[in-house]
Amino acid sequence: MNEWEDLKARCLTCKRCGLADTRLNVVFGEGPTDAEVLCIGEGPGEQEDLTGHPFVGRGGKLLDDMLEIIDLSREKNVYIANMVKCRPPQNRDPMNIEQQACSQWLEEQIRLLHPKIIICLGRIAAMTYIREDFKISREHGQWFEKDGILRIALFHPAAILRDPRRRPETFDDLKVIQAKIKEVCDHTY
Ligand code: URA
Repeated sequence: MNEWEDLKARCLTCKRCGLADTRLNVVFGEGPTDAEVLCIGEGPGEQEDLTGHPFVGRGGKLLDDMLEIIDLSREKNVYIANMVKCRPPQNRDPMNIEQQACSQWLEEQIRLLHPKIIICLGRIAAMTYIREDFKISREHGQWFEKDGILRIALFHPAAILRDPRRRPETFDDLKVIQAKIKEVCDHTY
């Protein structure tokens, strides 16, 4: 078993918090394990809990469409993971204690992947993986560097579905990401 398989096997049987009692599936994350770009979402919703795959509902379709604009796909060259691996009942926000219990899984995924670029999907991911007082409306589409990894935030796909006025700005942000990928990533995109 390689390190990824070992990590996934341990994560799929995790009982570190109470969400283990109500989940249908652990949503570990997916994509090539040599991807240079990592997308981080918040946590699974109903469809993700049912299928075990991240971002598969309406928001997931939009995310795939957004990534396709800049030649990224979870089949080829981007890894998609969530901060919390199990769906909280009724899609409530995960409690601090649940987030803390879960954070080690994503930390391990980042360590194994060592991505060049992290794309935070929405404010919650940006507050953890960029800066605690991150302001998504002001700072989306801007680059930050932490621990040698370039980081940027996009509006969460669910937020774009709620307010389509965010689409043009998101398109501009995607182009910013595409330019940076061409500059710093080794794979040809
Ligand atoms: N929203 C997220 O943040 N992650 C998912 O996997 C699905 C919806």
